[in-house]
Amino acid sequence: MREVHVIHHPLVQHKLTLMRDKSRSTRGFRQLMNEIGMLLCYEVTRDLPLENVQIETPLRTTMAPQIAGKKLVFAPILRAGVGFLDGMLDLVPSARIAHLGIYRDPATLQAVEYYFKGPDDLADRTIIVLDPMLATANSATAAVDRLRERGAKDLRFVCLLAAPEGVKRFHSAHPDVPIWTAAIDERLDEHGYIVPGLGDAGDRMFGTK
Ligand code: PRP
Ligand code: URA
Repeated sequence: MREVHVIHHPLVQHKLTLMRDKSRSTRGFRQLMNEIGMLLCYEVTRDLPLENVQIETPLRTTMAPQIAGKKLVFAPILRAGVGFLDGMLDLVPSARIAHLGIYRDPATLQAVEYYFKGPDDLADRTIIVLDPMLATANSATAAVDRLRERGAKDLRFVCLLAAPEGVKRFHSAHPDVPIWTAAIDERLDEHGYIVPGLGDAGDRMFGTK
């Protein structure tokens, strides 16, 4: 309960520093998000259960491990969560995708939901919710609420940066959903931005500001 995994791997930390730099280009920012997505995918799937299956090598029959259970679901919160997707799909190409359309109202900081499309059998799958930023946690909390309403039970949350306030709020609503993040920053500012942070992840990734 209330698990938080901070990924201290040097490649993750180095790439995060490059992303924080305000002079990073849109193209560079997007590329780094993709690369960190792959590295975080490796960490979040580290304990997936295995089962032994019988296979034929060129020399003989043997038992060998494969991931047990149904395929994973990646659930990116639009827009910025999409930035992790290609890197993660490079590692787990057969994963299913659930798109969650949620944005944060800039005045109230409340989550506004506008879209959901995902597989029907969420109850039988491990679902990995993706969003680079966990700020107030209003968006992440709403995302997990919606997935749970549709039957999801086994959930994990992956982000790049979290605010201490967001971690607390998310785990007060969903204590059984572990978090993987590259860093927990100092705090939120008066506009709900993570500081020192990296700015608006969606705008930086898609070049909209
Ligand atoms: C950003 C970010 C998260 C949310 C985090 O999205 O990608 O979804 O804010 O903030 P919270 O924890 O306070 O909810 P934004 O609302 O800017 O939407 P966008 O990705 O469509 O730009
Ligand atoms: N959303 C972002 O993209 N960045 C923040 O710092 C907070 C919310």
